[in-house]
Amino acid sequence: MHAELNVLYSAINNGAQRASKVEDMAMLGKIARGAIAAFVSLAAVSLAASLPAAAQDFPKRTITMIVPFAAGGPTDIVARIVAEHMSRTLGQSVIIENVVGAGGTLGATKAMRAANDGYSIVMGHMGTHAAAVSLYPNLVYKPDTDFEPIGLAAGTPILIVARKDLPVKDLKGFIVYAKENNAKVNMAHAGVGSVSFTTCLLLNSILQTKPTQIPFNGTGPAMNALLGSQVDYMCDQIVNLVPHVTSGNVKALAIGTPERNPALPNVPTTIEAGLPEFQASAWNAVFAPKGTPKPVVDKLADALDKALDDDAVRKRLLDLGSDIPGKDRRGPQALSMLVTNEIAKWSPILKGSAIN
Ligand code: MLT
Repeated sequence: MHAELNVLYSAINNGAQRASKVEDMAMLGKIARGAIAAFVSLAAVSLAASLPAAAQDFPKRTITMIVPFAAGGPTDIVARIVAEHMSRTLGQSVIIENVVGAGGTLGATKAMRAANDGYSIVMGHMGTHAAAVSLYPNLVYKPDTDFEPIGLAAGTPILIVARKDLPVKDLKGFIVYAKENNAKVNMAHAGVGSVSFTTCLLLNSILQTKPTQIPFNGTGPAMNALLGSQVDYMCDQIVNLVPHVTSGNVKALAIGTPERNPALPNVPTTIEAGLPEFQASAWNAVFAPKGTPKPVVDKLADALDKALDDDAVRKRLLDLGSDIPGKDRRGPQALSMLVTNEIAKWSPILKGSAIN
């Protein structure tokens, strides 16, 4: 009997000790959690202390918007139209720096490596921030993670255009000509990974043709070669084409959208012209380097948004046939989604076309 009682007492004792140990641990846990919470809020306060100053004062000086292609081309045109109005909203000049090469990936790389203080941004597009992923296996940046998306600036439908003296009268005639002459036909583009390269890669794969490819630093200079009949055709963004098509100096064979474009009402769609498989539209959008503070990103996104609401800006973009994104497609989140979707969309189309 005595022995059993001893066992019982020591069990109760152990239990009590364990209980007080558990209580002690619980207390320790509570203290630790309190300490962590205090540390986190302290870190937040000190971080906040440094951020608002920069964000509140942003911008204090000129902002550089990198355009990864030559001046005068579609990305440069869109960039200059929105940058001019963003300057007014931000109270500091947004100047354009054209950084050309490698289908726009050199300019995008420079922007990715720039200081993430909001003073360096880039006008990227469907090529630099989507197609390039599939075409450059060793691309040094990841469009969906190495940048802060600011917002979509403009959608730019793609047209198939030819020199005015190319002996074809419509898309059907062009297809026959391209197949009969194959490598004797010169196709202009703005470098591997550019919109003009990527969309004509799609066209040539549909037509099963292999033209001779003539690269330029942008479709601005490529357009000069087309106007001079040094090259035969290219696929390009409408904003670079309207004045040349309207003046008859360039032959527009078709537009790669289901509907005709009000800026070029006489240009048939590829569906009407007998090549429904060719559907292509590009987009141009503003990005900042990864880590650019959110308040700064928000200010830049707000300035872009205001530019796209401005009547004069809208008229200039619409007169050039671009598609101005509605509110639901503007801003960082919508752009982040677009980039992810476009990388996924172009990868199967471009599979096997990667350059090593
Ligand atoms: C340009 O601005 O030259 C174009 O965006 C080039 C391209 O991607 O085709």
